[in-house]
Amino acid sequence: MAYVARTDRPADKAARYAEVEAEILAVLEGEPNLTARMATVASMLANAFDPYFWTGFYVVAPDKADELVVGPYQGTLGCLRIAFGRGVCGTAAATRQTQIVQDVHAFPGHIACDSRSASEIVVPVLDSKGRLIAVFDVDATEKAAFDTEDQVALERLMAKVFAQS
Ligand code: SME
Repeated sequence: MAYVARTDRPADKAARYAEVEAEILAVLEGEPNLTARMATVASMLANAFDPYFWTGFYVVAPDKADELVVGPYQGTLGCLRIAFGRGVCGTAAATRQTQIVQDVHAFPGHIACDSRSASEIVVPVLDSKGRLIAVFDVDATEKAAFDTEDQVALERLMAKVFAQS
């Protein structure tokens, strides 16, 4: 099946997220592989929203405690590993709370993988047993690109894609 990103998305952000979420769930139906699921989410979201500059997952490292390792993503080169508690992704992993950062250059310990990133949102990703398996990170080149509408939509999407057994 050829997937072509639509150019006629609704202007309203919540409606746009709802539409893309339905498309993602339809594409992933019957596909249990975690890498395939993460790659599909990263690709379809990156193509649906213009401000998404870096879009992807840092997964909980299987080989080292309290460390994230880069997973499927769309964008410029990302750092490979992030310790829990470091930067925005490490803070989301350590606290299991979504982080919205309006100005990454003002965030203590922010890890600058690409200096063009100006704001970001990072959402914890849990499995069906409530275990942290990854964080989902989106960076934008404009300051304050993300708000609670993005948070609500992305938390719901991550729950639907990764926490359903
Ligand atoms: N900005 C992130 C690092 C990852 S990248 O931006 C791809 C952080 O501080 O956690």
